[in-house]
Amino acid sequence: MPADLQIAIDGPAASGKTTVARLLAQRLGVVYVDTGAMYRALAYAALQTQTDVDNENALVRLFDQQIRVSLDGGAQLGFRVFWKETELTQDELDTPVVTAVVSIVAAHPRVREAMVREQCRIAAEGPVVMAGRDIGTVVLPNASCKIFLTASVAARVRRRRAQLEMAGVDVSAHELTQEIEERDRLDETRKNSPLRQAPDAHVIDSSTLTAEQVVDEICGMIG
Ligand code: C5P
Repeated sequence: MPADLQIAIDGPAASGKTTVARLLAQRLGVVYVDTGAMYRALAYAALQTQTDVDNENALVRLFDQQIRVSLDGGAQLGFRVFWKETELTQDELDTPVVTAVVSIVAAHPRVREAMVREQCRIAAEGPVVMAGRDIGTVVLPNASCKIFLTASVAARVRRRRAQLEMAGVDVSAHELTQEIEERDRLDETRKNSPLRQAPDAHVIDSSTLTAEQVVDEICGMIG
């Protein structure tokens, strides 16, 4: 595996980025980082510490002092995210309360700067698959392969609902549609590094594809 292999996977909410990134990284034997989990960890910590999600300085301090990320292929997330000394689980990061505030937290320019710095540090360690919203445009602009993964809102709602059901959370399709559309709107319209397709990204619409099929397609591209 080339030491400088970097695969950037961006796309809207619940388009399957995390599942695809994890499978792809497993297949290639490289690490993967779901940057959404980093923003979610900060949103989680803000809620736990009653930090105002509009207070940019307090959020940056919280991130610098209390959030830590370490790579570990054997971990549930593929890497570990800690709030203070506590490792956060996927279920804790995916709750509807965290989801409701994460895009507000992620819109602050200095929060993004701190996140990008940490993501670049991780990417410098070796080959990586990284998923998010600004990976191909901001974090890894020179990535060897850039994917913009989309899917219809209906397909995304179906997947997110199944995922939440597995975690024992029941949210109606109507509520999820609103949540996904609102989060896309916030992510696409924020001033600082909005969700955008990099000009050199390959678009994959996964509405009717399995995660395995998407991974096959990406592997075909990188040869
Ligand atoms: O990918 P996921 O849905 O877990 O991301 C949660 C939120 O984190 C997104 O809706 C977005 O607001 C933010 N995010 C971001 N940039 C990234 C990854 C996630 O702004 N690279």
